[in-house]
Amino acid sequence: MNKRIEIVQLLKGDTAQLIGTNVCVKGWVRTKRGNKNVAFIALNDGSTILNLQVVVDLATADEEQLRLITTGACIAVEGTLVESQGAGQKVEVQASHIEVYGTADPDSYPLQKKGHSMEFLREISHLRLRTNTFGAVMRLRHNMAMAIHTFFHDHGFFYFHTPIITASDCEGAGEMFHVSTLDPENPPRNAEGKIDWDQDFFGKFTALTVSGQLEGELGATALGKIYTFGPTFRAENSNTPRHLAEFWMIEPEMAFYDLDDLTALEEEFIKYCVRWALDHCGDDLEFLNKMIDPSLLQRLQSVISTDFVRLPYTEGVRILEEAAKNGHKFEFPVYWGADLASEHERYLVEEHFRRPVIMVDYPKEIKAFYMKQNADGRTVQGTDVLFPQIGEIIGGSVREESYDKLMAAVTERSIPMKDMWWYLDTRRYGTCPHAGFGLGFERLMLFVTGMNNIRDVIPFPRYPKSAEF
Ligand code: 4AD
Ligand code: MG
Repeated sequence: MNKRIEIVQLLKGDTAQLIGTNVCVKGWVRTKRGNKNVAFIALNDGSTILNLQVVVDLATADEEQLRLITTGACIAVEGTLVESQGAGQKVEVQASHIEVYGTADPDSYPLQKKGHSMEFLREISHLRLRTNTFGAVMRLRHNMAMAIHTFFHDHGFFYFHTPIITASDCEGAGEMFHVSTLDPENPPRNAEGKIDWDQDFFGKFTALTVSGQLEGELGATALGKIYTFGPTFRAENSNTPRHLAEFWMIEPEMAFYDLDDLTALEEEFIKYCVRWALDHCGDDLEFLNKMIDPSLLQRLQSVISTDFVRLPYTEGVRILEEAAKNGHKFEFPVYWGADLASEHERYLVEEHFRRPVIMVDYPKEIKAFYMKQNADGRTVQGTDVLFPQIGEIIGGSVREESYDKLMAAVTERSIPMKDMWWYLDTRRYGTCPHAGFGLGFERLMLFVTGMNNIRDVIPFPRYPKSAEF
């Protein structure tokens, strides 16, 4: 066989010189149809959402072999590249030789031509990657990762690796997965009868990280601007289409940034990612726009072409209270001090402003201990970026750089600081104003794909009672 060429090259590249020559392609059969004289095989190799049409002349074909070429089978094809008569493709391959690598028994292969529900596909996450939808989502996922690294690299940030195993609960929500090598049946106990974590692998109680921020701040106060991009874990039992137990987070942290610098970066960054998707993933987006969400492309265009609103929390609550007074029904109550629910966030974004909103200056009680305290004594410089369809896509803040104020917040919340001395040292030695945020990678993926459930934008989702693949 000739050297294999990827289908994306044939369908998207410049093929003028290849017309009339012999090419070799390899991939998985999407469909086979035909008539008395020819069979048409739609072949996909994952390099693009587009299928290559392979034409088999039945007069010379090996009938026995052709019977094995069913949906899902993997084949290698050699043949002549010709301009296509059919609509929708510029070239096709007239097969001269086919090798079947692997058959897919039509009686048991679960992916047939008919559409399957997302719930069913989740049960076969090992095979759903071979569908058009998941192929498109995964290519977009790769592209978003490239966009993120490129953005930060071009803006002078350093990629900084923070630990996955940690002893600190950054968000203070107590939703950590424990990491231990102690025998769960018979753990060592101390004098009080409690489990003696001193005897555990790390000599202390450890867990999977919920955020790389605290270590990220150590990086920023030395290197100036850093970002993390890694897996994070939350043992929150929230069975929602917006939460995963294992998700990826991007956390930039910048020395000498104030609130305006921070929100400007959040807006520029997210627009850059969306523009990257539009520039690099046209075919996949068009497919998703057609099959998943007919307003996807319009929504992506609209986000990159409008200015995001800066909205103080207090003003946001006033708008929501007004809406409730005028008869808008919210499931959860709104009042100053309430942690806004996603219905409130979406009302502001989708109905009131009709564009993304960056909410700032939250009541300190509903935000984490590390946020910079405002002079009013009631609010902190937290920022949530709220998006249409998604709700919160980014959470961030200016950090409290004063040792005394930080300690006051820690004491107020009774946060155990025994293991946090290193974090407090940043405020004791050369403390500086700084800020950062966290973007939930899968929330971004929800937005750029138009998919409805966060379990369908990561290859192998982790959520309560599910870790099969
Ligand atoms: O708002 P969060 O909890 O903020 C932090 O973790 C900060 N330490 C970030 C920082 O300032 N460096 O989480 C940040 C983002 C959320 O806005 C959301 O997009 C995403 O992470 N997120 C989740 N995504 C999927 N599943 C979950 N369970 C998520 N929890 C948060
Ligand atoms: Mg948040």
